[in-house]
Amino acid sequence: MSLSDAISLAFADGEVMHFPAVTGDSVLASAEQAGNVLASNCREGTCRTCAARNNEGEEVLLCIEPARAGLSLKLPYRRTDVTPPSLRRAKINGFSRVSKSVWELRYRLQFPLPFLPGQYVETTFPGLDAPRRFSMANAPSQKEQVLHVRDLPGGGMSAYLGGRAKPEDAFTVRGPFGVFYLRSTSRPKLFVAGGTGLAPIMSMLASIDPDTAPPLALVAGFASDGDAYAIEELRGLGQRLPLQLILAADRAGSSWSGMKANPVEAVRFVKAVPLGPGTEAYLCGPPGMVAAARQALAAHGLSDSDVFNEAFTHAP
Ligand SMILES: Cc1cc2nc3c(=O)[nH]c(=O)nc-3n(C[C@H](O)[C@H](O)[C@H](O)COP(=O)(O)OP(=O)(O)OC[C@H]3O[C@@H](n4cnc5c(N)ncnc54)[C@H](O)[C@@H]3O)c2cc1C
Ligand code: FES
Repeated sequence: MSLSDAISLAFADGEVMHFPAVTGDSVLASAEQAGNVLASNCREGTCRTCAARNNEGEEVLLCIEPARAGLSLKLPYRRTDVTPPSLRRAKINGFSRVSKSVWELRYRLQFPLPFLPGQYVETTFPGLDAPRRFSMANAPSQKEQVLHVRDLPGGGMSAYLGGRAKPEDAFTVRGPFGVFYLRSTSRPKLFVAGGTGLAPIMSMLASIDPDTAPPLALVAGFASDGDAYAIEELRGLGQRLPLQLILAADRAGSSWSGMKANPVEAVRFVKAVPLGPGTEAYLCGPPGMVAAARQALAAHGLSDSDVFNEAFTHAP
């Protein structure tokens, strides 16, 4: 294979991968057929996990981009950040409802499963038809693993936690997955979370060393004040880190001390980090919120390549 026949992908650390273009397949499928592991999730062009950039700086989604010889693209992560997933046995330590719509599930692994703060796993619980994806809310250094699980009406996981689940139940965890992880730069960082999109962001914040932390701001949004959770933990992080914390709820009663707004509207009240070029942003939550936040941050002048996101889609 000569290089002009190949597709070239350059990783964030400068390493370059070459592989043949398979006619009729996507760039992602061509890379995988050549035995390479790249970040992907929905594989249908909606989640943006596979996003790369061409030489003009335009976004290219590898899962839907037709493979063609000579294509040269840049990826926003290092090759070593995407490792083949491992399978682990796990046991439930405990679980509780932490708001009207969120469960917190704590578990232990039979053997450690290293991950980067912000990554997720595929869990398979007893009696559930298919694996469910959840992001770790704990720092990678913490032994007990923590998930924040949204209570979905009719949801298999909600039925399990609300009915059959008990401490010591065994399940499996496969991962880690994803390239929504905290970049270890000294740049100011803005985090915007919607609902349980807070989970990977809490993992990131818990991993930041207070002695070297850059300016940080978190906008945590909830559908209503009754859905808000982890408030005391967030306030604790706010005392440990140089963190501006903005709590926002779309609907709230008079006792709510946060803002009455959605998290995207609340971004304009961020003061601790500049809303403009040079700031990194991490967005996580429902797909609509993530898309709206990207648009708002672009209008503020943040560079698209400095905005990292994970959309909590429903994977079949
Ligand atoms: C990378 C990634 C990380 C994720 N991390 C988390 C996390 O940390 N915490 C968390 O709560 N969720 C997370 N999700 C979303 C979660 O995986 C799904 O919502 C999951 O399928 C829910 O399982 P369930 O058994 O509760 O509902 P299911 O039984 O799978 O579905 C029940 C009903 O709800 C609908 N539904 C399911 N998920 C969604 C959704 N996200 N939006 C709208 N409707 C939906 C289904 O279409 C179905 O009608 C993540 C998703 C992805 C892709
Ligand atoms: S894997 Fe390509 S957009 Fe989701």
